[in-house]
Amino acid sequence: MSDSRKCLIYICSILCFTGAASQEFQLEPQNLFVLKDSDAQFRVTIQGPWEVMTWDVGDVQVLTLPINSPSIPATGRFEASFCVTDDTSCVQFTIINTTRNDTGRVACTVQNRPGQKVAQLHVQESGTVSILGGDTTVPQDEQVEFQCVTSAWFPTPTITWNQNGEAVNSSLYNTTSVADGDFFNATSVLKFQAVRNTTVQCLATIPALTNPVSSSVFMVVDATVPVPPDWTVLIAVVVSFGGCALLVLLIIAIVYCCKRRKQKQTNYQDEMSRRVRTQSVVSVSGQRQGRVNNAYTPDSQTSVAPSEVSDFDQEKVYSVITLPDILHSHYVENSDGGPYNTVDETGFRKHRHVTIV
Ligand SMILES: *[C@@H]1O[C@H](CO)[C@@H](O)[C@H](O)[C@H]1NC(C)=O
Ligand SMILES: *[C@@H]1O[C@H](CO)[C@@H](O)[C@H](O)[C@H]1NC(C)=O
Ligand SMILES: *[C@@H]1O[C@H](CO)[C@@H](O)[C@H](O)[C@H]1NC(C)=O
Ligand SMILES: *[C@@H]1O[C@H](CO)[C@@H](O)[C@H](O)[C@H]1NC(C)=O
Ligand SMILES: *[C@@H]1O[C@H](CO)[C@@H](O)[C@H](O)[C@H]1NC(C)=O
Repeated sequence: MSDSRKCLIYICSILCFTGAASQEFQLEPQNLFVLKDSDAQFRVTIQGPWEVMTWDVGDVQVLTLPINSPSIPATGRFEASFCVTDDTSCVQFTIINTTRNDTGRVACTVQNRPGQKVAQLHVQESGTVSILGGDTTVPQDEQVEFQCVTSAWFPTPTITWNQNGEAVNSSLYNTTSVADGDFFNATSVLKFQAVRNTTVQCLATIPALTNPVSSSVFMVVDATVPVPPDWTVLIAVVVSFGGCALLVLLIIAIVYCCKRRKQKQTNYQDEMSRRVRTQSVVSVSGQRQGRVNNAYTPDSQTSVAPSEVSDFDQEKVYSVITLPDILHSHYVENSDGGPYNTVDETGFRKHRHVTIV
């Protein structure tokens, strides 16, 4: 295909499109936001001759407008007329005293013109705005919080804040909304540090409003007012110190307990080993047999038990520990209740004494 032919097709298509467009008509605005009880007005621009125009609100045809009777008397709440007298190219359609039920589609049809033009109507309601607490005096540098309460809005309003007429960064406030029947209540919380005298303004708006509804308070920063102590910090400090102290006490207690237990255990073990040795000594010197004692090596005549056990003359004995012998009954008690002696089968007499270290 040559370039010139391409160009021709292009020009032709533009011409065709323009020709069809001349048969079109426009409905404006596409989206209309109005407050309840106010009027909603749409307009249609239409080129060339036409005969009859009809208007629908929702699914109901509410008005028929012949071109030769340009000002139809209002049928109930609906009205249509030429935008400018005797100019058939513009028609305005008005819904008087809108209600929430009017929300939805508004459509215009022109006889012998293709298609139907549809727009959307949004009927909204503005409510109240107030900053809780009113004017306030705060200490210098205090973290302050303002609450803006809006109620009876439809839909939920967009809330913004101003400080001394300047918009506040949205990271400084939070807005939550709650449905209340057919309406919405919204609460916005603004937090910032009080530095200087400030006019704080809360603004609520919905698309149907040209100007937001607002509420203002004046915050006086008084440097002479002492900043109240931050109890949370104080409590946190006390709690953490207390916790540390408790922890230290606990550790000390645990260490002490462990030490004591170990000591007890060593005492017990010492005692046990002593007991075993004594018994072994006794049994060995008695019978050369008996319980296994790892610390003991048999000797033909005498048995030498480890360090703690040694031979003493009876006279030199100061203290003696006696332990009952479960296995053997070779203990012979002296008549005078003195130290125990063991009697060998061979009649060899020995004194076994245990010293306490
Ligand atoms: C609008 O309609 C309401 C009821 O829906 C009525 O009370 C009010 O008087 C009407 N206002 C006008 C201006 O017609
Ligand atoms: C708002 O504050 C945030 C974080 O503090 C910052 O990143 C952002 O740039 C600010 N926006 C404006 C418009 O100042
Ligand atoms: C807003 O809410 C978010 C999450 O709930 C929180 O992290 C943030 O600190 C709040 N900001 C303000 C100004 O309250
Ligand atoms: C909405 O606000 C109104 C007026 O302040 C109050 O009476 C109502 O209880 C609120 N509704 C909800 C759901 O908070
Ligand atoms: C703040 O406002 C108070 C009360 O209007 C006024 O007395 C004071 O001088 C102001 N402080 C400053 C720094 O403007």
